[in-house]
Amino acid sequence: MGTGLKAALHLTPEAREEIAQAEKVFYLISDALSEMWIKRLKPTARSLASCYAPGKPRMAAYQRMVETILAPAREGRRVCAAFYGHPGVFVYPSHESIRRARLEGIDARMLPGISAEDCLFSELGVDPARSGCQSYEATDFLIYRRRFDPSSALVIWQAGVVGNLNYGQRPARSGLHTLARRLAGVYGRKHEVVLYEASLLPVLPSTIRSTTIENLPSAGVTGNMTLFVPPRPHAPDPRGLRQLHLRQSDLTVVPPCWKPDS
Ligand SMILES: C[S@@+](CC[C@H](N)C(=O)[O-])C[C@H]1O[C@@H](n2cnc3c(N)ncnc32)[C@H](O)[C@@H]1O
Repeated sequence: MGTGLKAALHLTPEAREEIAQAEKVFYLISDALSEMWIKRLKPTARSLASCYAPGKPRMAAYQRMVETILAPAREGRRVCAAFYGHPGVFVYPSHESIRRARLEGIDARMLPGISAEDCLFSELGVDPARSGCQSYEATDFLIYRRRFDPSSALVIWQAGVVGNLNYGQRPARSGLHTLARRLAGVYGRKHEVVLYEASLLPVLPSTIRSTTIENLPSAGVTGNMTLFVPPRPHAPDPRGLRQLHLRQSDLTVVPPCWKPDS
């Protein structure tokens, strides 16, 4: 299940009920307040953070998490694993635990949560219906040279740890240079991008910082930030209009989907 980003406020009643019902609760949550909140609901809840080993591959830690989650489930106990945000969005151990549990004949399901992208849509005023929206993990985006449409919005996750497969490694400036070069080749160096970090506490504002693609490597991108690349303006395709028996004047002109916070 997902706790959302502000666990105390984003946790759904469905997820809260699951924590209450579970015999064993594990969690992977990035802030102390949310951790306290889970512990209040289930004092015996255990963090999965101990599965990480500094400097060691993150994937090895994820495999340990899967084993930790599955062990009591194999003994027939009701297990709940809580991940911050949405548990199925850029989270390996949640999907893998469910896949393996089902293979072993254990009932498993995923409960949704409020993801960083949901918060980004709210706070940057982005509606994916306006131009479409593409979402990529930064390292995957580069190494598979993902094809994307610059007339659609682009969301890049984990830009702060691009190229970095080990836990606890410092953010790699060279990875950000590579990312900036790839984006500049498509949008141009001066295209505006937005660094977004949702606040985890109701009393603190989120970080919303505009920069350009060329300044990205020195913009202080952290591991908890998500990069938003607004779409390039794009004219409708006359053939598409004709095929749908529409004229350009039938279309509603809408302002860009991202406007800087006032
Ligand atoms: C392993 S993914 C986890 C995503 C999480 N499951 C979710 O649903 O939001 C980590 C990435 O999520 C994004 N992220 C995490 N916390 C964030 C925050 N407070 N604000 C914006 N993006 C965040 C960043 O792109 C970060 O590199």
